[in-house]
Amino acid sequence: MAKSIIKKEAFNLKEYQSRQRNFIQLIGEGNIAVVSSASIAKRNRDVEYPFRQDSDFFYLTGFDEPDTIAVFVPSREQGEYILFCRESDEKMALWTGANAGLDDAQKVYGAYDAFPIDDLRDILPGLMENKNRLYFPMGVNPDFDRQLMDWSQEVRDRSRAGVSAPAEFISTDHLLHEMRLIKSADEIKRMKKAAKISVEAHIRAMKNCKAGLYEYQVEAEIRHEFMSKGALFEAYPAIVGGGKNGCVLHYTQNDAKLNDGDLLLIDAGCEWQKYASDITRTFPVNGVFNEEQKALYQLVLDAQRAAIEVVKPGNHWNQPHDAAVAVLTEGLLTLGLLKGKLEKLIKEQAYKPYYMHRTGHWLGMDVHDVGDYKVDNEWRLLEPGMVLTVEPGLYIQPTATEVAEKWRGIGIRIEDDVLVTKKGHEVLTQALPKEVNEIEQLMAQHG
Ligand code: GLY
Ligand code: MN
Ligand code: MN
Repeated sequence: MAKSIIKKEAFNLKEYQSRQRNFIQLIGEGNIAVVSSASIAKRNRDVEYPFRQDSDFFYLTGFDEPDTIAVFVPSREQGEYILFCRESDEKMALWTGANAGLDDAQKVYGAYDAFPIDDLRDILPGLMENKNRLYFPMGVNPDFDRQLMDWSQEVRDRSRAGVSAPAEFISTDHLLHEMRLIKSADEIKRMKKAAKISVEAHIRAMKNCKAGLYEYQVEAEIRHEFMSKGALFEAYPAIVGGGKNGCVLHYTQNDAKLNDGDLLLIDAGCEWQKYASDITRTFPVNGVFNEEQKALYQLVLDAQRAAIEVVKPGNHWNQPHDAAVAVLTEGLLTLGLLKGKLEKLIKEQAYKPYYMHRTGHWLGMDVHDVGDYKVDNEWRLLEPGMVLTVEPGLYIQPTATEVAEKWRGIGIRIEDDVLVTKKGHEVLTQALPKEVNEIEQLMAQHG
């Protein structure tokens, strides 16, 4: 048997078996589910992007290789979970490192049967015979979707031999994404680790920031911390925007010089064992907020605190957003950036030119994680085990001539990762300073 290549601490077989049992139960007897891995993507010519497994596939299998198909057949006598994967290959082991192979697919990863991926064509149509429903992640891999349709047709063509083909094609999304929305203890542990490393990275960035550096040099501090702690991938490309670049919501150029007197907005989070963190902090390049920066920053912070406060079971998804909008609008009115009656301004969304995004999203294996935000057209109620971000901001564009010049070009966002608990919530990124005085003190110690 090939030597096992997986890191024991990263793979929790019992956890995967429990997910597989739940999934198989949801699929139901008489049906079949087929879930494919991600593929390797080309970057240029013969250079590949680093491989990142499909999150649904990894959630169910823990198997971290391309060219793999997982099949789940409830009540199949010879075993309900089958993997089609690459055979172990000594030549590949020499060039790119060892892969699991058929033995480990069974012995380590817990598949009841494992077959070479090249045999899929011969075996899968047979498994689809006489099944009512075929579940698969529709739309993720159109080529594979088409392949499944063709094989279903093949089975249908054999109807005179007494076999039937699946009559219903159903997306696995709903089943799997409802499962992924509620995090297990094992998942929360990994998310806490991702959060911890990202907190340390943001602290490192604050400590090392000074005027005259380029945004990418601060990004390098973040990446250094991620990698040196073993988080080899970012959960998403870091946003490191000085001054007015902080007003560009998805700024990732990160190549401008940092100016004395500007703010720096950093939105960066690592991925730890396939779990994301997502943190934003905004702080002064020179370590001290000026008056306008401080006023807007404190407003965003108050809005964030108000939003986090209402994260608890039984409250609905949109309550944090409503809370943030109320605080931001009132503050903009007080500071003179908006004029009018508070209720009317909120109703008419007068804050939108300065706060144009939502207050958060689900967080998990994907940074914008899966799970419905509405159920039966109503905002979903929060439940223990859900993880979301809370990330209000204010972005006064340089072109916002309707406000006094002193406010223009200030972009601020504050983002934390929040777990819904039985009693309320736990802020997974709590350890990262965000009060004005905390940030100024931290930066003064290292200025
Ligand atoms: N970093 C992506 C987001 O905050 O949604
Ligand atoms: Mn973010
Ligand atoms: Mn976010």
